Amino acid sequence: MSAAVDDNTYAELQEIAARYPEPRSGLLPMLHLVQSAHGRITPEGIEACADILGISAADVSGVATFYTMYKRRPVGDYHVGVCTNTLCAVMGGDAIFERLKEHLDVGNDETTGDGKITLEHIECNAACDYAPVMMVNWEFMDNMTPQSATQLVDDLRSGAEVHSTRGPRVVTWRQAERVLAGYPDGLVDEGPAAGPASLVGLDLAREKGWTAPDPDKGSGAAPGLETGSTTEQSRTEAVEEADTSRAESETMAEEGQKSD
Ligand code: FES
Repeated sequence: MSAAVDDNTYAELQEIAARYPEPRSGLLPMLHLVQSAHGRITPEGIEACADILGISAADVSGVATFYTMYKRRPVGDYHVGVCTNTLCAVMGGDAIFERLKEHLDVGNDETTGDGKITLEHIECNAACDYAPVMMVNWEFMDNMTPQSATQLVDDLRSGAEVHSTRGPRVVTWRQAERVLAGYPDGLVDEGPAAGPASLVGLDLAREKGWTAPDPDKGSGAAPGLETGSTTEQSRTEAVEEADTSRAESETMAEEGQKSD
């Protein structure tokens, strides 16, 4: 049995919907607010969103079940994600995930008995320059190892203050969900932002004197992608050629089926 949506949460859901010219555009942050209030997406939360937006509960449910950031089961105080996508996996993400499953005695997408940690393997966070990467409530933990990962979850479970390597101190999952709903917690400027590995390209460009194209002069497109007549012409020819070859191979396949 899940909780009803209280008056304050309902009013905030309405407030989020009112931010958008099309109220339905507010559904994603509204679902984050439901998670902040209920610790997961509840049937009552779905009904409230549908009611406010004038859409069906099935429409809301379709969105809530499509995106993996929306959870139908209660999440612990800290959602701990381990990137097991290609680069992180080969750099140690798989080993970290295995170690944490064993250390916490949980499987993927499960929560520890004390309700503190939900462990999940996650896809690329566009932080491959710090692989292997973990996230706690969507804050980055860079260059992790099985040892630092177990220390991290032990710290979280003990209530020690934990800081993201490129962001603020870690808050609870429900608090972080409220931020994702569009209610700032005042921590946005806390901690470092971009790290050295992400700035290598910028440093190199400065060293070489490279600058971005002036948007007021020309297309600003990368070399080879200009919209000049020669390039445009060759691109059109390439598309036509590709279409012709595809049509030819489809025709040949059809003729082959007929003769079978
Ligand atoms: S593969 Fe892990 S952040 Fe990209």
